[in-house]
Amino acid sequence: MVDARIVIREIQEMREEGYLSDAILRHAVKTLHRDDRADWVGAYLLNDEGLELWLHNYVGAPTEHARIPVGEGVCGTAIAHGANQNVPDVTKFEGYLACSPDVKSELVVLIRAGTEIYGQFDIDSHQEAAFTPQDEVAVQMIADKLAEQIAHERR
Ligand code: SME
Repeated sequence: MVDARIVIREIQEMREEGYLSDAILRHAVKTLHRDDRADWVGAYLLNDEGLELWLHNYVGAPTEHARIPVGEGVCGTAIAHGANQNVPDVTKFEGYLACSPDVKSELVVLIRAGTEIYGQFDIDSHQEAAFTPQDEVAVQMIADKLAEQIAHERR
């Protein structure tokens, strides 16, 4: 995975230059997509009612899942359970929402500040069991940095 410390520094610099979370989310998605295992990367944000995830931006093939109800698929499950999802084999995930038949594994990491969940990064791979617990930690560090900016904007 990318070096989270470098990405966090980049995000901090963007914040200091006055970029808003919108631009920073796009930067993070593009950066995460540089990893060879990351065939599709997107950021979803929870809508105001907290009932649906809306696709904010992505790199990769277009998806049918621009909006995902909370509780559905890997993405909606992460929100419903308030927990990241590292799915080594998507065919074994009940209720999985397929974007492409080539996707074999998926990592969803929540963008949150404490109990407040803003959204998530979703990373799909054509490799089985592509993502390690260390990858999840790295993406979480980036997500936490983003959450700082989102929290700041929503105050
Ligand atoms: N697979 C996800 C849907 C989003 S796509 O991967 C882009 C899910 O099961 O929630």
